[in-house]
Amino acid sequence: MVSVYLNNAATTWPKPPCVGESLSTFLSRGGANLGRGTSSSRDMGTLNSVLDCRTRLAQLLGGYEDGDPRYVTFCSNVTEGLNIVLRGFLRPGMKALASCMEHNSVIRPLRTLERLGVKTEFLPCSPEGELGPETLSKALSKGRCDLVVLAHASNVCGTVQDVEVLASICRDAGVPLVLDTAQTAGTLSLDAAALGLAALCFTGHKGLMGPQGIGGVVWNPEFALKVDPLVTGGTGSYSHVEFQPEELPDRFEAGTPNLPGIVGLLAALDWMDEVTLEAVAERERAIGAFLLDGLLKIEGLQLQGRRTMEGRVPVFSFNFEGIDNGILADVLSRKGFETRPGLHCAPLAHKALGSFPQGSLRVSPGYFTKDPEITSFLTALTESVRELRRE
Ligand SMILES: Cc1ncc(COP(=O)(O)O)c(C=O)c1O
Repeated sequence: MVSVYLNNAATTWPKPPCVGESLSTFLSRGGANLGRGTSSSRDMGTLNSVLDCRTRLAQLLGGYEDGDPRYVTFCSNVTEGLNIVLRGFLRPGMKALASCMEHNSVIRPLRTLERLGVKTEFLPCSPEGELGPETLSKALSKGRCDLVVLAHASNVCGTVQDVEVLASICRDAGVPLVLDTAQTAGTLSLDAAALGLAALCFTGHKGLMGPQGIGGVVWNPEFALKVDPLVTGGTGSYSHVEFQPEELPDRFEAGTPNLPGIVGLLAALDWMDEVTLEAVAERERAIGAFLLDGLLKIEGLQLQGRRTMEGRVPVFSFNFEGIDNGILADVLSRKGFETRPGLHCAPLAHKALGSFPQGSLRVSPGYFTKDPEITSFLTALTESVRELRRE
């Protein structure tokens, strides 16, 4: 049976081989904790890898003060990064704006904060999932707003928000903007400092090609001081002080970090340096265009979001009238094609796109997807729909 992975929006696969190799080397030959030993070569090895990884992320994502590595902090994933920012900054009486295209990693922390007296508003988007600049401007002019949080690209329909324009509106209004780059870091070029973001939250296991369990935040250092840490504890530094250090990165990094994850992410960034972000973006665009072209030719396929590659990443969701997307995904899975049906942790996006509660079938190729795999998927999809219609 064929095996074709078309679920890169959930996590990229395969990873560049150097990622697994670096994890194995770290665990078998390195393995020292961070700042909790001496200056042995193993201790220094860990220290240098962590510093390198911070530095490289700051360069790739446009960290503040010419990519000062201190302003990149690690946590488990973008969900935790968003929780650190939202729950650490928003206090009772404050108001946060988001779009209706957010993932539950934004919706759920905001709903939790609502119970504590934070006001929230999820702004409507166009039928293609785009947040219009005028919608944001109008909402900001209506009254108090303390923070805006947005997904850079939708994990349902792939629509990329016009972040330059939206960020300039937030800057003009003096409102901190937090960006969820789960679907864009490592795929699109990003510059947190140039955009004036308060915080850019990233996850290591998608476009950045690293292992699962590592992510973080690129901070505007002034904003970071207004955010209370969610977790406090040992940092391997300032051990004489009984309160959490104010300094970055220690402020948000209590407890032993996911060091194998950081080392694996660093290897992925090395790979990215060699291949280049531009080449990755170009390949993803090409494979996306090839798939999109084929999808649009399939009779009865109702595509969500944009019908060209302009302003989108290669994440495609669709439905067929009268066919359950979960059953279709199962039929495809038995033929060897891995997709993702359902609501994709984004109920408001599906409501906005008219596919709640049934959801849709999502297909997301990646850098390593080959053209013939897309061709065989398109054939299998057409045949599977025919089979289900006959039943
Ligand atoms: C837009 C968006 N935000 C947040 C997340 C959550 O990512 P993680 O599970 O790595 O925290 C995802 C994952 O699919 C996503 O697509």
